[in-house]
Amino acid sequence: MFTRHRRLRKNQVIRDMVRETALNRQDFIYPLFVVEGENIKREISSLENNYHYSVDMLHDIVDELKDAGVKSVILFGIPGYKDEVGTSAFEENGIVQRAIRKLKELNPELFVITDVCMCEYTSHGHCGILNGHEVDNDKTIKYIAKIALSHAAAGADMVAPSDMMDGRVGAIRNTLDENGFKDVGIMAYSAKYCSAFYGPFREAANSSPKFGNRKSYQMDPGNIREAMLEIEDDIKEGADIIMVKPAMAYLDVVKLARERFDVPIATYNVSGEFAMVKAAAKAGLINEKSIVKEMLTCMKRAGAGMIITYYAMDICRWIKEEN
Ligand code: PBG
Repeated sequence: MFTRHRRLRKNQVIRDMVRETALNRQDFIYPLFVVEGENIKREISSLENNYHYSVDMLHDIVDELKDAGVKSVILFGIPGYKDEVGTSAFEENGIVQRAIRKLKELNPELFVITDVCMCEYTSHGHCGILNGHEVDNDKTIKYIAKIALSHAAAGADMVAPSDMMDGRVGAIRNTLDENGFKDVGIMAYSAKYCSAFYGPFREAANSSPKFGNRKSYQMDPGNIREAMLEIEDDIKEGADIIMVKPAMAYLDVVKLARERFDVPIATYNVSGEFAMVKAAAKAGLINEKSIVKEMLTCMKRAGAGMIITYYAMDICRWIKEEN
């Protein structure tokens, strides 16, 4: 005696009926890079088909997102200058702040999340304020809160701290609340690993550390219990959504977090994951569309309700084609 599992795989109709995980267009968040200057729409060499935009060119991507059905972006800024304390990250007229205002003017319905970190803005490329060669946690979280506040004041819907300092979610929540931004949410990069998968992003954002590495603040890839502690603390401190990053090699972390916590979970399909798929597709080794659908479906199956991906516009178009 055995069970005929294949009965439920007989044809497309029944397969569609029993499918446990389906992708929707609202699941995806597109990473968007803004740069100083004018009239710039420049392909990012390490992230094929993704571009650097100057603020005056954002209409271009806003139209494309609308056409594809992507409803949310996470913004990254490449500033005009850098200094020791990342001053350009929290200026009223900084690159991200101007981009937020422009995006909201172009499409008030676009849900704008901002990456809150210092590595693109500091001359040393670390995610915080230095004390000698160490990143000073308690000094840094004051700056992180200041950056988040400047994004909220410019009109961001949600802020996403990616610095991995301790206590930053609480510091941001307090600062936002004290300044009347009670409804601005926090998506915390809670379990952010120290990963070689960020390589292409660092080229795109010009944010590599000038010395050392990020091991004293980002997590060790071998750890999962520690990820649960990070997530638990971020929820206690006021995170509305928690994130696991990278995605592909870390879906066990997503899965365990889904079982343990009842907040929405995001995962970040990072630049190195994107670049590997692109390169393999280009070499004719894989079918890009099939692989992307499979990889994103598996992220959702593991428990991620939302996925940040450089493939957001492609997948949304593919979903639209099918329906
Ligand atoms: C900033 C930040 C990084 C990424 C998102 N926010 C890079 C890093 O931590 O070095 C990586 C995103 C990607 O690789 O797509 N701290």
